[in-house]
Amino acid sequence: MRILSGVQPSGKLHIGNYFGAIRQFVDLQHKGSGLYFIADLHALTTVRDAAKMRELTRDVVITFLALGLDPERATLFKQSDVPEVSELSWILSTVTPMGLLERAHSYKDKVAHGISPDHGLFAYPVLMAADILIYRSDVVPVGKDQKQHLEISRDIAGKFNQTYCPGYDANTGLGGVLKLPDPLILEDTAVVPGIDGQKMSKSYGNTIELFAPDKETQKKIMSIKTDSTPVEAPKDPDKCNVFALLKLFATPAELATIRQQYEKGGVGYGEFKKRLVEFFMRQFGEARKKQVEFVKNSDYVDEVLRKGAQRARKIATEVMDDVRKVTGLR
Ligand code: ADP
Ligand code: TRP
Repeated sequence: MRILSGVQPSGKLHIGNYFGAIRQFVDLQHKGSGLYFIADLHALTTVRDAAKMRELTRDVVITFLALGLDPERATLFKQSDVPEVSELSWILSTVTPMGLLERAHSYKDKVAHGISPDHGLFAYPVLMAADILIYRSDVVPVGKDQKQHLEISRDIAGKFNQTYCPGYDANTGLGGVLKLPDPLILEDTAVVPGIDGQKMSKSYGNTIELFAPDKETQKKIMSIKTDSTPVEAPKDPDKCNVFALLKLFATPAELATIRQQYEKGGVGYGEFKKRLVEFFMRQFGEARKKQVEFVKNSDYVDEVLRKGAQRARKIATEVMDDVRKVTGLR
């Protein structure tokens, strides 16, 4: 089974990225051959500063390593180190109906949040399809916000196969050059809320970063938006952002106690936030120490990316050979 996913270097990674995606990467690395990349080409749609791009790219790979991805098991690489992906992206764009892209929620959301749209943002799902299809990926672990992008990737793969592979059977997928991928989305961590209650996202400025200094992390958690229910009064855990985040970290027994405290009253939101700070440090303390070490060891990080690119490129080249043949480019 080939497992593939990517994370954009568009900002500092946060607990939404961890619970929605990276935690699955770590768990899955023992179940199949994993390919995890830093989607720097995608990030060009928002990051327009070379130094920033380099810094954030390095941050993502260090985050992967600190959280437990083992570069001996999984292939860690930079998207732009496999230039074939841009070639495939163009070829796929010629079989992608405009309507498919016009319906993309992520595009519409970004525009609604004030990002001025350009062709790169519009074509984003096509490049993402190329990322997935060029490695003949079976499974793509992502958060729920990427579900539609996966559906678009499947549609594009089907369209390509139908266009260029005469014996293609859309029901079984047999006879096609490109393999239709399946998303892997864990329902209980599908959408992690940010400190303002919206989806946590680098682009919304509402994140709790994985590797910010202790003080800053504490400040962020203490600033989570809550309602004005007084300390003594009972509180509804299922309507509280702090509880939604506590759920991600607490053991079932801890969570049961916290739920009781909410429902009984007498404990203020400040106390619950302090618990969340404790849980955060318990969960990420080890990774935070490793992160500091990897930051110092830049030669090692470069070597991981160099080897990863080599392995990824080998697979991509094989698939591209087939694509070039069936399209008549070769
Ligand atoms: P962001 O929205 O912060 O820019 P990305 O789009 O780079 O994050 O997402 C990287 C991965 O993390 C994707 O698989 C995405 O689905 C997942 N992810 C991002 N934010 C969340 C969230 N709030 N909840 C669950 N998963 C998330
Ligand atoms: N679009 C994804 C995100 O914003 C990142 C990404 C790019 C990706 N290419 C991918 C994820 C391929 C999975 C597979 O999170």
